[in-house]
Amino acid sequence: MQEAQLTSSASPETISKMRSWLKKKLSTELSLGAPASSIEITTRQLLETALAQSKFTLTDEARDSLIEEVAATYAGFARIQPMLMNPEITEIMINAPDQVFVERGGKLELTDVTFPDNRAIMGLIESIILPLGRRVDANSPTVDARLPDGSRVNAVIPPAAIDGPILTIRKFAKEKLQFEDLIRLESLTADTAEFLTACVASRLNILVSGGTGSGKTTLLNILSGAIPEGERIVTIEDAAELDLQQTHRIRLETKPPDVDGAGEISIRHLVRNSLRMRPDRIIVGEVRGGEALDMLQAMNTGHDGSLTTVHANSPRDAVSRLETLVLLSGFDLPLKVVREQIASALDLIIQTARLSDGSRKVTSVTEVIGMEGETIVLNEIFKHDTQGRNGTENGRAGLKATGIRPMFEHRLKAAGFHFPPKLFGADMSTLNSPRKRR
Ligand SMILES: Nc1ncnc2c1ncn2[C@@H]1O[C@H](COP(=O)(O)OP(=O)(O)O)[C@@H](O)[C@H]1O
Ligand SMILES: [Mg+2]
Repeated sequence: MQEAQLTSSASPETISKMRSWLKKKLSTELSLGAPASSIEITTRQLLETALAQSKFTLTDEARDSLIEEVAATYAGFARIQPMLMNPEITEIMINAPDQVFVERGGKLELTDVTFPDNRAIMGLIESIILPLGRRVDANSPTVDARLPDGSRVNAVIPPAAIDGPILTIRKFAKEKLQFEDLIRLESLTADTAEFLTACVASRLNILVSGGTGSGKTTLLNILSGAIPEGERIVTIEDAAELDLQQTHRIRLETKPPDVDGAGEISIRHLVRNSLRMRPDRIIVGEVRGGEALDMLQAMNTGHDGSLTTVHANSPRDAVSRLETLVLLSGFDLPLKVVREQIASALDLIIQTARLSDGSRKVTSVTEVIGMEGETIVLNEIFKHDTQGRNGTENGRAGLKATGIRPMFEHRLKAAGFHFPPKLFGADMSTLNSPRKRR
């Protein structure tokens, strides 16, 4: 502001400059979630200091309304702060001034938190993204950002959001779920957890498939934990969520394009780059574009034990989703070749789902066997069974062995993991168990 043209009484342009300057200054001076009262005091102090150093004058009225307006932008945070602090709440969704939802224990709840109007929501969105150096406006009405604490933020404003600005915050879980938690929550069984741990340690290439919020990233994080210490792990994500404990670990994150559309760093770019980093394992947060091909090629060329996730509703669907994504890579490959790539790259698909009661489950653990003619052969090893009592049988979370032993069992054995036949469903008399073919 100091470098602005000095006049005795501030013009509307000057006031508008002051407004932007104040907002920017506030975003660095205030910690997220400062109470509304301190916001107003800080705003006033900033403005008074700035005015004293300049030759501007503002009428009391103009001064008050500027302070009020700028402070209001930041006051929205005070409304959502209790929800941000509450560890039981995993997601905050602001749909409208009188519709603020949270997710608690897997269930959606309407809260009694309200905003005066859509402008207040807009103010909250700005107060979150401006400090992060991002912006949102009618020309680019959607924005993704990550809060300093790791929480993920998405905002959509008009014209893309028809009824007003929408804000979704997925809170960063400080205490990440572990296999023990998933077993306790009946998302999978102890047997399956042990089996999956062995699969990761034995360097199988694994794809976690599931819908949004079904627990893919959580499972990916847990699986990554089974990678032995000493291996060089490169993780590639849109917004860093994975929380690996291993020491030899490199984190790469994509970057959206600048306001002028330049400078984007894509997942694909990072996957390709990671191959030159001598990785033992490549972990990609989610494949959703042409990087699917690069990932498959990496898996096929010695980067065994790589892990990723994909948005799909069943293992079969995951395979066809990969086919579609590979076509997005720009290489005009015949479908059969694409399928061969998939079949030889992938060893295992783990399906996750969020059921209608809000619980999240592993619903299938499926081996990718190979090609038979034009089709990829899949064999389910563990399967969620909804037939039992409450979807569970013998307290086994509804995830049961199908009686089919995995073809890759020799790889587990070679790595020192020996499972009793019982684990895969020793009693095969009642189950039909097609033998695998290659
Ligand atoms: N098995 C589970 N049981 C209960 N909550 C879970 C489970 N898996 C994940 N969650 C929670 O569900 C939310 C979404 O999980 P996330 O792994 O990010 O889903 P996705 O990556 O599929 O979108 C997170 O808050 C996470 O802590
Ligand atoms: Mg995810």
